[in-house]
Amino acid sequence: MAFAYRGGVLCAEQVSLDEIARRFGTPCYVYSRALIESAYGGFARALRRRDALVCYSVKANSNLAVLALMARLGAGFDIVSGGELARVLAAGADPAKILFSGVGKSAAEIEQALRAGVRCLNLESEAELARVDSVAARLGSRAPIAFRVNPDIDAKTHAYISTGMRHDKFGVPYGESERLYREASRSPHVQIVGIGCHIGSQMLQPAPLAAAVARLASLAARLERAGIALRHIDVGGGLGIRYRNERVAPVGRFVASCLKALRGRKETLILDPGRALVGNAGVLLTRVEYVKRNGARRFLVVDAAMNDLLRPALYGAWHDVVPVRKNRGRRAVYDVVGPVCESADFLARGRRLAAREGDLLAVRSAGAYAMAMSSNYNSRPRAAEVMVDGDKAQLVRSRETVEQLFALERIP
Ligand code: LLP
Repeated sequence: MAFAYRGGVLCAEQVSLDEIARRFGTPCYVYSRALIESAYGGFARALRRRDALVCYSVKANSNLAVLALMARLGAGFDIVSGGELARVLAAGADPAKILFSGVGKSAAEIEQALRAGVRCLNLESEAELARVDSVAARLGSRAPIAFRVNPDIDAKTHAYISTGMRHDKFGVPYGESERLYREASRSPHVQIVGIGCHIGSQMLQPAPLAAAVARLASLAARLERAGIALRHIDVGGGLGIRYRNERVAPVGRFVASCLKALRGRKETLILDPGRALVGNAGVLLTRVEYVKRNGARRFLVVDAAMNDLLRPALYGAWHDVVPVRKNRGRRAVYDVVGPVCESADFLARGRRLAAREGDLLAVRSAGAYAMAMSSNYNSRPRAAEVMVDGDKAQLVRSRETVEQLFALERIP
């Protein structure tokens, strides 16, 4: 086990989190390379008998060390901005394995992607088709494109991370997609290479995904009859992980359902998971600053806050909080809160813990949408990030300094 207690101390692989806190300070994100590799291996195994590509969804965790590891493992990348494109290229990505998704690509980002030679731009509107066509015409190139189709299927997840229903801003309506493909096929500056969807995140069971993939497969068949051939079918990401006690279908079951829905189709199958590859490979290490009590409520005020980990405040997300050193102290029920001036600044509520001032806690399942969604609210420098590999811990992002936070500001 990559995060397990040894001699009463929680370790990341073979390095104790005590030692990491001593060397790198807190708050600090700690990732296990072995866990990322094994999560990737799960996808690779499930897909081994099929022409397929896993495009890691960079938004989940965009640290260069994570991206470089994915590239070495053979992953492609699902990106959503010029910034993510620059990152994956800096980390050694093969442009032929990059998908550029997102509802609001600027002309500059489209140009950057075409110059880099990405595999595909996933278009989300007719207006975007026109823009891509004109940028490609100006560059004298042909843009490889797919439409992200909105299949109008409920992913059965949190409303903020459900993306595949008619009222969501994402994709083009299923009913209009055939017409859009015909229109794209007449443009000399775009080349149709695929079709895609992504219906939501943190899905626990494969049925909604399978239903969406079946819709893509039937659309692909109709396009084929219309003389429009596709190279790939991109079914998105969204595979859930266990934060608490959720029953999550294993990756193999998600993949098997996709393969079943695609039966007979020969296009390359692309998946773009984020959370399932990195979510449980990271923890947020934090130190208790104060133990306090207001009326009947007890608080552990820790040095990490909502600016470091926004998910509890934004989605009411549940992350496990465990002591780094097992102890026999008296347990009580605490809210684990940060120093930020907002009542939504909590990492966990109502947890039974024994903790004293100065103790270290680990917030689990913090590898995805954690550091990636952090901010500098309250002028708090962002946390350090550490990657552990066996008995080695390496700093992969330095803690920000306060000077860096206002280095771009000017007093007129
Ligand atoms: N592909 C597309 C087109 C996406 O929009 C997303 C995520 C993914 C793939 C990866 O989804 P995953 O496999 O990680 O579920 N901040 C939220 C999650 C937002 C997901 C946005 N899109 C959270 O913390 O739960």
